[in-house]
Amino acid sequence: MALNKARLDRFLAQHCQISRKQVRLMLAQSRVKVNGSVARNIEQVIDTFTHITLDNKVIQQNTAYYIMLNKPVGVVSATKDEQHKTVLDLLEYPFKNELHIVGRLDLNTSGLVLLTNDSRWSERLTLPEYKVSKRYIVHLKNKLDEAYVNAFAEGMYFSFEDITTKPAKLTIIADYQAEVELTEGRYHQIKRMFGRFRNPVTALHRASIGTVVLDSQLAAGQSRMLTLQEVENIAQ
Ligand code: URA
Repeated sequence: MALNKARLDRFLAQHCQISRKQVRLMLAQSRVKVNGSVARNIEQVIDTFTHITLDNKVIQQNTAYYIMLNKPVGVVSATKDEQHKTVLDLLEYPFKNELHIVGRLDLNTSGLVLLTNDSRWSERLTLPEYKVSKRYIVHLKNKLDEAYVNAFAEGMYFSFEDITTKPAKLTIIADYQAEVELTEGRYHQIKRMFGRFRNPVTALHRASIGTVVLDSQLAAGQSRMLTLQEVENIAQ
């Protein structure tokens, strides 16, 4: 398997245990196809999910999987856990053990969790420079007011990490309910931010990541594959 991105000639030389001169000959003889087309360019860049054949025999065929799950409260965002059911336990796909989680949720948080085997996609979603927003619906014990909106927008200093949170958008939906949009994911971030107001979060639900919105047809515990459009447009 090619690890992330690699040049075609390097991949073939390594895979077939031959010299790059021999690879050039193979290409000149039209023996290699990349994603169904005869490969001519030794410098062509391929990745883990590029389909490659040699003499019409498949030598690399890895499928990228992208799943959205409606995580229920009480399920842990991990692949293994001694105590609790994990998000993987909820999936029935034969390839589920290849997947990793893109941005965890706390045990008592529900909502959208993405899983994939495509580490380049997940890295992109979690890199700060892409500023992929995550939208949460938050229920609170005490009444909200405009002071919350300003404090979330200004950012809050977390001494434990010695950081100030990035500007977050808080919209008051009702007296005890808000929508919060974050572009980062600090440990227990939303609960800690409301903690500054001594206002306990009574329920927390992630509604979207980037442009991908949790499918309202998915009951808690259910999942589905993302569409190609969702995969490609998520971080716009
Ligand atoms: N903020 C939290 O406090 N918990 C989550 O699960 C996500 C964001």
